[in-house]
Amino acid sequence: MKICMIGAGYVGLVSGSCFADLGNFVWCVDKDKQKIDMLNNNQIPIFEPGLKDLINKNYSSGRLKFTTNLNLAVKNSDIIFICVGTPTSNKKGSADLRYVYNVVAELSLYINKFKIIVTKSTVPVTTGDKIEKIILKKRRKKLFEVVSNPEFLREGEAIRDFRFPDRIVIGANSKIATKKLKSLYDPLIKKGAIFFSTNRRGAELIKYASNAFLATKISFMNEISNLCEKTGVNVEDVSIGIGLDKRIGSRFLRVGPAYGGSCFPKDTKALTFTGTLFKTDLSIIKSVIKSNEKRRIFLTERVKKILSNKIKNKKVTFLGVTFKPNTDDMRQSSSLLMIPYLHERGAKINYYDPSGEKKEFSRLKNVFFCNDINEACEKVDLVIIHTEWDEFKSLDFKKLYRKRKFKIYDMRNLYSPRDMKKQGFSYHSIGRQN
Ligand code: UGA
Repeated sequence: MKICMIGAGYVGLVSGSCFADLGNFVWCVDKDKQKIDMLNNNQIPIFEPGLKDLINKNYSSGRLKFTTNLNLAVKNSDIIFICVGTPTSNKKGSADLRYVYNVVAELSLYINKFKIIVTKSTVPVTTGDKIEKIILKKRRKKLFEVVSNPEFLREGEAIRDFRFPDRIVIGANSKIATKKLKSLYDPLIKKGAIFFSTNRRGAELIKYASNAFLATKISFMNEISNLCEKTGVNVEDVSIGIGLDKRIGSRFLRVGPAYGGSCFPKDTKALTFTGTLFKTDLSIIKSVIKSNEKRRIFLTERVKKILSNKIKNKKVTFLGVTFKPNTDDMRQSSSLLMIPYLHERGAKINYYDPSGEKKEFSRLKNVFFCNDINEACEKVDLVIIHTEWDEFKSLDFKKLYRKRKFKIYDMRNLYSPRDMKKQGFSYHSIGRQN
């Protein structure tokens, strides 16, 4: 099939190269000339394992093309995916749909034959209706269908998630559109992905409800971990114990810092805003947002306690600063609150992250990026394991301890408190007896 992805960001690039890999002809369009030039010169603007090879392979086969020319891409495609960002727009937390509507207004000028226009961007329920109206204003004849096909890709695992999805959700108000989208996904359906079709508004809401539900699961366990600490219960036993109930499921019950990233914080806020718009009180999601915000502060206070309330002149190391491993994304990472907090109170911070130095900390005088774990942990008072990158999972603390003994705060529960104690380390983790 002939496809156009509008927006060569995370969603557009991953989905576009995966569609090309399934044998389709894909145009990836972006207004950002620099980005398109990079892509045409074999450079990848985002960090995602496996993406470079996938793009190279499909670019050389001629199935994947990059352009700034929307007219060319739309005219030569049957299915057009809108993959632009929908960031948080204001204090109330609504989704900023400016980029989506701008794209729609422009692409409507180029509809030369029947097109299926699909929102892959996360858009609030009823956005598809508005898109339809915008296009109809420019083109009286309904030579198009607007469909919702939300993405469920996790950063760092996006290619795997595309190839082996739990489900593919299509929200369409016409049978022709559903059939066409189903045939596009046919290779994945044949490999076992479940295809679920509903109406357009239904698919739009499924995306927000999924992210809000996952955020709720995480926050729920994070709060339970606070109770575990007070009652001498191991939170991992509770996660396993409840996760074995198939009605609950075992995934997304890992405790840690506040959830972050570009999706959960933004989408939970946008969903409560939609609730307000439709006069529906989504009180559970509101309290999840509050609980997550409190958690950032709660864990920072914990660091203070581990340092016996003496932060000034203490040397603290962060292992990992991104919101999760296998990404260079810093958006809504709890390190963005923790590092400035400790820095303001006189701590000296070293940090090491496999995805490299971060511009977010470059202005902080006493925050230093280190090139490796050894350098980062030399002569420090406290090491905080903030992000669960693989290379932090089997550290040789004895070796790291040689120059100075430090305390360890494992915010991802990567080690066993019993083993750590046996080896004489001062070890703190989350929701467990340390
Ligand atoms: C999330 C969803 O998982 C995807 O399905 C969705 O497509 C995506 O948002 C999106 O809307 O685009 P992502 O933000 O990439 O994906 O990352 P997740 O793996 O879901 O992690 C989000 C946050 O939750 C991270 O801070 C992570 O550390 C935290 N988390 C996750 C936990 O604290 N515990 C868990 O058990 C799982």
